[in-house]
Amino acid sequence: MTERLKDKRIIVIGAATGIGRAVAAAASSEGARVVIADLAEKQGQATAGEIGHGCAFIRCDVSDEQSVASLFAAALDHLGGLDGVVSNAGLQKAGPMVDMSVTDWDGLMAVNARGVFLATRAAVPHLKAAGGGSIVNTASLAAKRGGPGVTAYAASKGAVMAFTTACALELASDNIRVNSVCPGFIDTPFNNPAIEFLGGREAQAKLVKSWVPLGRQATPEEIAPLYTFLLSDESSYVTAQAYSVDGGVYN
Ligand SMILES: NC(=O)c1ccc[n+]([C@@H]2O[C@H](COP(=O)([O-])OP(=O)(O)OC[C@H]3O[C@@H](n4cnc5c(N)ncnc54)[C@H](O)[C@@H]3O)[C@@H](O)[C@H]2O)c1
Repeated sequence: MTERLKDKRIIVIGAATGIGRAVAAAASSEGARVVIADLAEKQGQATAGEIGHGCAFIRCDVSDEQSVASLFAAALDHLGGLDGVVSNAGLQKAGPMVDMSVTDWDGLMAVNARGVFLATRAAVPHLKAAGGGSIVNTASLAAKRGGPGVTAYAASKGAVMAFTTACALELASDNIRVNSVCPGFIDTPFNNPAIEFLGGREAQAKLVKSWVPLGRQATPEEIAPLYTFLLSDESSYVTAQAYSVDGGVYN
């Protein structure tokens, strides 16, 4: 443990599994006090227990205003203040754009875009009270490059990227830094709908090999260190950025 986040009070939303879980575990191992939030209650409780070091789980639906307000009230009670927030909850639905229902479009926007807005809005007064802080939002390579079958998802992540930049400019004078991370292919169950749309695992593996310069997917643990950096004081002069972690796809 190098303690790059020693005593920082951090909420990671969408952390029951995958990238968020790895980010929360990395933050905790760097000395942060961590609250994780997710819709998936059983898995979230289990993850908090595995992370240990006082990590607490709070159930939250990021698309719901009241649920996000309750999360921040309970998390602030637990942490006693706030230094960083990671908005990482996400939903994906894949399929041809012409077949997409308004319900599916709105559902993606509610979690991926509205969720980031609600969490950011709830976090800012507490970060201001702490004299500043760091907000990290998970966007996606899809926001920069798009792709067949993921039109609504790409649009929702484009919203996250644009919202992040605008918030960074609005909040800079409060010493609140706001950045996004744009993962490429990370090996989590999240991609199952897109894999199905592409024709299965073998077809996806072929695509990854031909499309990704490093020729493979990443593990969640390979992407977590960037979040640690952005949450730490090492990135004190970094804001309004959208970092690609995609094996070289976006260049
Ligand atoms: N895996 C990839 O290749 C990839 C690529 C680009 C971006 N991303 C983004 O990374 C983030 C994490 O994805 P992951 O790959 O770790 O997948 P994941 O499915 O393991 O993680 C997503 C988490 O969000 C939670 N969640 C979903 N809806 C929620 C809601 N309404 N309220 C609270 N929590 C909710 C899920 O329960 C889950 O724990 C997502 O925002 C995703 O869009 C993933």
